[in-house]
Amino acid sequence: MRDAFGRAITYLRISVTDLCNYRCRYCMGEDGVQKRGHADVLSFEEIAQIAAAAASLGIEKLRLTGGEPLVRRGVADLCAMLRAIPGIRELGLTTNGGLLPALAPALKAAGVDRLNVSLDTLDPEKFRSLTRSGTLDDVLCGLDAASDAGFTGTKLNVVLIGGFNDGEIPAFLRLAEKRDLTVRFIELMPIGCAAKWDARAFLPADAVLKAAPDLIPIGGDGVARLYRVPGGRGTVGLISPMSDRFCSACNRIRLTADGRIKPCLHSAEEYPLRGLHGSELTDALRKAILSKPKEHCMDAAHPSGALRNMFEIGG
Ligand code: 5AD
Ligand code: SF4
Repeated sequence: MRDAFGRAITYLRISVTDLCNYRCRYCMGEDGVQKRGHADVLSFEEIAQIAAAAASLGIEKLRLTGGEPLVRRGVADLCAMLRAIPGIRELGLTTNGGLLPALAPALKAAGVDRLNVSLDTLDPEKFRSLTRSGTLDDVLCGLDAASDAGFTGTKLNVVLIGGFNDGEIPAFLRLAEKRDLTVRFIELMPIGCAAKWDARAFLPADAVLKAAPDLIPIGGDGVARLYRVPGGRGTVGLISPMSDRFCSACNRIRLTADGRIKPCLHSAEEYPLRGLHGSELTDALRKAILSKPKEHCMDAAHPSGALRNMFEIGG
């Protein structure tokens, strides 16, 4: 269905857990996440019911996020349930990649169409420092495991952090060349922990074009401006939520792990769906879609209006 501003809403992002095996500094505090009770988190059946109601309103694409979706036990079973919903044409999953070596084949078998892997540095020590607990090698093995399991078109999400990984732009471009990956550089957003970060950490995505002026523009795909590396295999994407708002093309809504619809990532507005069934559930979803705001008003001086951290929303 269309929202109040005529945007067709076809994409639902589903956070399946707030928990994560990493503790990225821009996303979480040092102590990680306060664990919710089992009953606070939607069951697989509840998620599938909401996704089916959303599909009846025109949602065609689902993406599982977290926290880290792969820490939720049995997540591949959920994937299979969601992929089987009539009207769902694509199921994606965004992961930090650390658990892909164990899970990539099961995800492929469950019908997951595409993976986005988050990776912000190719330096093992910096990786450990940023994630406070992760091992770079696990993620690199995860990328191999994904391609061995038959995943193609995998996207690598790199959050640009001034003074931390801007010097690694050429290294990421070489990775795009070497592997069949779309490397997408994403502007850091002032949300959650990152809202308090120094202005120097916030770089415009155009910093990538300054570091690599020979990139060849090949158009866009809604949220990303796309480029080709001369002579290379991979594609590069620039995602600029800060310097170039793409709200007018936004087609998505979000479901939190505790069962609330967020019509906009950057708004505090949420619609609880728990306990609703049948027409009550579809009506609540419809209301949420119709209340999607026109745009966010976040900039360097005004942090996101979301009252949650990224690990509670799922990026
Ligand atoms: N700004 C931009 N991206 C963020 N992510 C988490 N926090 C932020 C932030 N403040 C990203 C993760 C991952 C995706 C789920 O969201 O790195 O790529
Ligand atoms: Fe986990 Fe992703 Fe947050 Fe890092 S950014 S702590 S990988 S949820």
